[in-house]
Amino acid sequence: DDSNPPFYKRFVGGKINASHNCLDRHVEAGRGERVALHWRGEEGEERDITYAELLAEVKCFASALKEQGVCKGDVVGIYLPMIPEVVVAMLACARIGAPHNVVFGGFSAEAVRERMEFSEAKALITVDGAARKGKTAPVKDRVDEVMGELSTLETIVVVRSKGTPCEMKAGRDVYYDEILAAAERRGGSDCPAEPLDAEHPLYILYTSGSTAKPKGILHTTGGYLTGVSATHRYVFDLKPETDVYWCAADVGWVTGHSYIVYGPLANGATSVMWEGAPDYPNKGVWWGLIERYKVSILYCAPTAIRACIKWGAQWPEQHDLSSLRLLGSVGEPINPKAWLWYHKVIGGERCPIVDTWWQTETGAIMITPLPGITATKPGSATRPFPGVQAKVLSESSGEPVSEGQGLLVLTHPWPSMLRTLYKEEDRFIATYFERFGNETYLVGDAARVDSDGYIWVIGRIDDVVNVSGHRLSTAEVESAIVAHPDVAEAAVIGQHDEQSGQAIVAFVTLQGDLQGDEAEIESIREGVAERIGKFARPKRIIWADDLPKTRSGKIMRRLLRDIAEGRALGDVTTLRDPAVMGELEGRVKELQAQES
Ligand code: WT7
Repeated sequence: DDSNPPFYKRFVGGKINASHNCLDRHVEAGRGERVALHWRGEEGEERDITYAELLAEVKCFASALKEQGVCKGDVVGIYLPMIPEVVVAMLACARIGAPHNVVFGGFSAEAVRERMEFSEAKALITVDGAARKGKTAPVKDRVDEVMGELSTLETIVVVRSKGTPCEMKAGRDVYYDEILAAAERRGGSDCPAEPLDAEHPLYILYTSGSTAKPKGILHTTGGYLTGVSATHRYVFDLKPETDVYWCAADVGWVTGHSYIVYGPLANGATSVMWEGAPDYPNKGVWWGLIERYKVSILYCAPTAIRACIKWGAQWPEQHDLSSLRLLGSVGEPINPKAWLWYHKVIGGERCPIVDTWWQTETGAIMITPLPGITATKPGSATRPFPGVQAKVLSESSGEPVSEGQGLLVLTHPWPSMLRTLYKEEDRFIATYFERFGNETYLVGDAARVDSDGYIWVIGRIDDVVNVSGHRLSTAEVESAIVAHPDVAEAAVIGQHDEQSGQAIVAFVTLQGDLQGDEAEIESIREGVAERIGKFARPKRIIWADDLPKTRSGKIMRRLLRDIAEGRALGDVTTLRDPAVMGELEGRVKELQAQES
């Protein structure tokens, strides 16, 4: 239904349930014994979970959630590491029509609290502790430190994963295994999938925008499943009977939602799920997994490939990677050097590479080669997926560019399109449709079209940075930095970085005559880790007596980016105090000299 742009609908009047499509359908068709997940833990633990087993656990947990008072339409937070229970939790929510709100395990408890508050979550599913490179992080305890004030949150379900001791608050906290067993005793294994409207919300996923407040991207059911299952099948040339597929992302990002959970399971695929980091217990762990499970399709991020290049080809070379037949890339532009290494060292020069461009908002892959059909060019995501209409518009005229650079837009709605920003409809329109009208979705990326019509995505045009494939807003990091009692003002920018794509650089003014030193840098970085997560800590902090501002007091981040990238400074005469720039330039050069 496209009668009311930009509020599009799909399959109006149709009924569907995502959990039924991902599980019951396969089991009913006699595929219950097929492995859905080859799960592997950091310390070598192993669990092969079939479709029938996954369905049984999802039914029981769905029934347990209902028993806890979770109803259709209630938002359920999920803050779990890469353990099978995260998939169970998501599908159990889908089964009863409770939209889930997953928060990436790398976010801090404070970031979780904020997202639970914004979405008015009724329940939260979390874990006692999470494994990280041989250590265990006390997740539940950290959640408890911040969650006390939240009145809407009635239940916290705790998965006992690592046996980390934690306190359980009477009347609020329950153990996953206990409510699961109780549900089973009550006959919860019959919990049928609730028939839902095709437009029933499947999930909310918070992502970063131009301001400090994250945006709650809302996806619904029928269109979303159509988008993820079609793209997962055609972009990866999936043969569900024979392939072993591995998406090495985290379920906490949209890549995990669409291409670890909903796409692969809707298609009846067999997947690998890895709990840990790519360099623990050693830097060859990924390649060992590929050899062990005979992975045929690998989907990962350029930042991981660049890390592997740095660690050296001797790691993959110790393993038999001959099972691989297709490679995918996602999350940021892949530089031709990394593309060629991936092709040669990992793909043995025989595997096509699909460089897939999309976003949390698009739900599914939008611009991508189709293996065996599209001739690739290293560094280009090539052309839109069939049915997708992408254009590059001139920044000045708004007219389509036939060759050259401009703003990437999508000019036709697609099934897995976000439906709105949760509880922020005005922001939905302002962010995506103000610039070119209600029928032209503004992506937020700059892109180039070449003479063959191939699209080369360059990067964000807003104040969003992409650090190792993690999307962050500069405003969010700034607000975390200025929350530090010693800080007066901060301006954050993304700086090109060989390893992580972009690195966070913060220009910071301290209170009064406080002097910046190493201890202060650590304390500011720690503050950011607490408020957002470790991955958001600034790589560099540059002390500033003052920041470049317009006469009206607006910080000119563009000039800070120019300084950080060593570019010639543009016009500084509009600044309140042009002398500020010379001083900062000196500081940056000093720091660069120290680092090299
Ligand atoms: C932004 C979306 C796509 C799921 C993971 C990230 C950048 C993503 C590519 C690519 C160049 C890419 C864009 C986009 N991006 N894929 N293949 N080539 N850039 O989802 O966190 O919503 O970030 O990631 O800048 O707008 P996200």
